[in-house]
Amino acid sequence: MQIFRTVREMQAWSLGRRAEGRRIALVPTMGALHEGHLALIDAAKKQADEVVLSIYVNPTQFGPQEDFDKYPRTFDRDSDLAEQRGVAAIFAPSNEEMYPAGHQTFVTVTELSRGLCGAFRPGHFRGVTTVVAKLFLIVQPQRAFFGEKDYQQLKVIQRMVADLNIPVEVIGVETVRDPDGLAMSSRNAYLSPEERSEALAISRSIALAQDLVKQGTHDCKNILDQVQGLLFQGKFTMVQYAEIVDEEMLAPLAAVERPARLILAVYINGKRLIDNGPLRP
Ligand code: PAF
Repeated sequence: MQIFRTVREMQAWSLGRRAEGRRIALVPTMGALHEGHLALIDAAKKQADEVVLSIYVNPTQFGPQEDFDKYPRTFDRDSDLAEQRGVAAIFAPSNEEMYPAGHQTFVTVTELSRGLCGAFRPGHFRGVTTVVAKLFLIVQPQRAFFGEKDYQQLKVIQRMVADLNIPVEVIGVETVRDPDGLAMSSRNAYLSPEERSEALAISRSIALAQDLVKQGTHDCKNILDQVQGLLFQGKFTMVQYAEIVDEEMLAPLAAVERPARLILAVYINGKRLIDNGPLRP
């Protein structure tokens, strides 16, 4: 497995592989790999000849009060896992390599970035789309794999690729959960055992919404009241937002009459977790 730290080396390798007719898949990550990332690598391996894993904690997607400094950085463990999983190359640049002095170009997806997480994390999606556009140009993949856990991120990136005619197929992979239902996230490492057990209410609230829809409740206010009722039982829990939105446009819905998503951001004792699940009428 190759490890590249510079744009020049990474791009040269990818262009070389493409010239040989090899299909490249990119799995972009910020490291601290868990089973969710490994599922992305496995999906990528099935649909490409070479899998490139990027590991980069991107400063432009973190707000000033957010966890950029304490975000877990576990490069040695990550590269061992990547090698065991058959990754061909890791791209792990420095900040100076990604944002050299004088950098001033950003990519913004206007509408889809506005609501949900975008409303509470100003500039977050601008940072994500900028770094992902750069990764696409550096790694030159034909396909890229993202987890559905960051559902808004997935939709924003798919929109960017369509709007800018970027020749990369963006593929969403279903959220991987622990056996008790908690969605895998690098930020789960911040939770104490007590907080983790309270966080299980998040996936339970999604299951509750799915059951309500199955039983014929389509009114979003009614569903969201019951979701909030379940979450409010936790002593550490603060709901930042809970919305039912159209699955593609992410616009809030009054009733689940077409494919929809319940999307939530919840603080457990100050630690922010996000999750979502499909609601099928
Ligand atoms: O989902 C993530 O880990 C990040 O937002 C991404 C896509 C790697 C961009 O930094």
